[in-house]
Amino acid sequence: MSYDVIFIGAGPGGYVGAIRAAQLGLKVACVEGRETLGGTCLNVGCIPSKALLHATHQLHEAAHNFDAMGLTGAKPKVDWKKMLGYKSDVIGQNTKGIEFLFKKNKVDWIKGWASIPAPGKVQVGDQTYEARKIVIASGSESSPLKGVEVDEKVIVTSTGALELGKIPRKMIVIGAGVIGLEMGSVFARLGAEVTVIEYLDRIIPGNDAEVARSFQKLLGKQGMKFILGAAVQSATATKTKAKVSYKLRKDDSEHVLEADTVLLATGRRPFVDGLGLEALGVKMTERGQIATDRHYATSVAGIHAIGDVIEGPMLAHKAEDEGMAVAEILAGQAGHVNYGVIPGVIYTWPEVASVGESEESLKDAGRAYKVGKFSFMGNGRAKANFAGDGFVKILADKQTDRILGAHIIGPYAGDLIHEICVAMEFGAAAEDLARTCHAHPTYSEAVREAALACGDGALHA
Ligand code: NAI
Repeated sequence: MSYDVIFIGAGPGGYVGAIRAAQLGLKVACVEGRETLGGTCLNVGCIPSKALLHATHQLHEAAHNFDAMGLTGAKPKVDWKKMLGYKSDVIGQNTKGIEFLFKKNKVDWIKGWASIPAPGKVQVGDQTYEARKIVIASGSESSPLKGVEVDEKVIVTSTGALELGKIPRKMIVIGAGVIGLEMGSVFARLGAEVTVIEYLDRIIPGNDAEVARSFQKLLGKQGMKFILGAAVQSATATKTKAKVSYKLRKDDSEHVLEADTVLLATGRRPFVDGLGLEALGVKMTERGQIATDRHYATSVAGIHAIGDVIEGPMLAHKAEDEGMAVAEILAGQAGHVNYGVIPGVIYTWPEVASVGESEESLKDAGRAYKVGKFSFMGNGRAKANFAGDGFVKILADKQTDRILGAHIIGPYAGDLIHEICVAMEFGAAAEDLARTCHAHPTYSEAVREAALACGDGALHA
């Protein structure tokens, strides 16, 4: 069997790339070893966690805001098994959707785990396929942490956390990054006592520091506890309980905490097991990623790589964009990803979203900037919906007013950020956003108000 291009991995990078390559007239196959398509994101990541975030947000609304709106009656109880069933249905609908899209676009799904015995050849089981080009899109896996033995029952990664037999009474989360806070907040809303242990003195490193402080306060109000500046030394489990020991960095003192469940969320690493990259001589970076050039070509001719296995943020949408770009490049077009405008979203309630520069990165670069900020407390829609926590912050060039970055904490921040992304793609000034009519009453007015605050001032502040 011979193809123009074989994608290895059917996550957001591989499946999107395969569909686009087929749409551009190439003969395409995609190798996937899981039972279903969609990779980590659809099967054990973004999509299932969002189902649980949605369900638990509704629970939180019922418990905290229904009464005030005149919605009275018995409070809903959690049927954990049923909630996991809902989550599985959501996964099923999405993975079957990709299977349908593969058929529609004539992408062959080769089932099994791939290796690359030589450039131009992909081996799956005892079958060898010929490919003019190979694209590695094999994704990432949880990074192990020394002293922490994951069993996916008591000490779990995000994968095990999505399948827990019961809701833990006490949960320890190691790492205050995206996974730790998304999953931690789900279990906090389900009634678990959640303590997050973080190595740094702040949560969500890399994000705007002011947003991080505000986010920590809001999560604290939701009952989550934080131990910052603490290095986890070990986590050990008995059948039903776990002990986590950590050292406070300020004084080296050692402490131990107990819980029913421990979630390890200290980062992910590229997954390249079994591909045979070493034998092929594919060059890797110091951080274990596949080294690529601007066209996603590796050091071996005919082999490309995209998504979590290469440099850059480990985000599904970054992988998707690279999938489209590499497909276009392989079809002879000019594929391109603008790495300056890749939004990042943390799906908690409220959500946190960011794009472009932060105040910290602008200060480091010595750039002159101005800040336009607007609180959701001044937004009528947010007030009506008990969603006044948080703010929009737009950073613009001091001289030219060009938007350099934006940071939002608040209701649907992950959706609101995109009008700023589009504005940035067009090189817009804050004034361009400020002069754009925004429908009233919408959350998006808070974005416009922040843009106004970059100029003559917000109206409702
Ligand atoms: P992360 O890199 O976001 O956060 C890991 C945290 O663990 C950091 O704050 C780090 O300082 C801390 N840490 C490291 N070692 C520690 C130790 N020994 N003791 C205590 N704390 C320690 O990693 P995370 O949350 O596991 O996510 C992995 C990847 O998946 C990220 O690249 C993330 O962007 C991506 N992801 C994105 C999502 C989204 O876009 N909504 C959702 C889930 C994952």
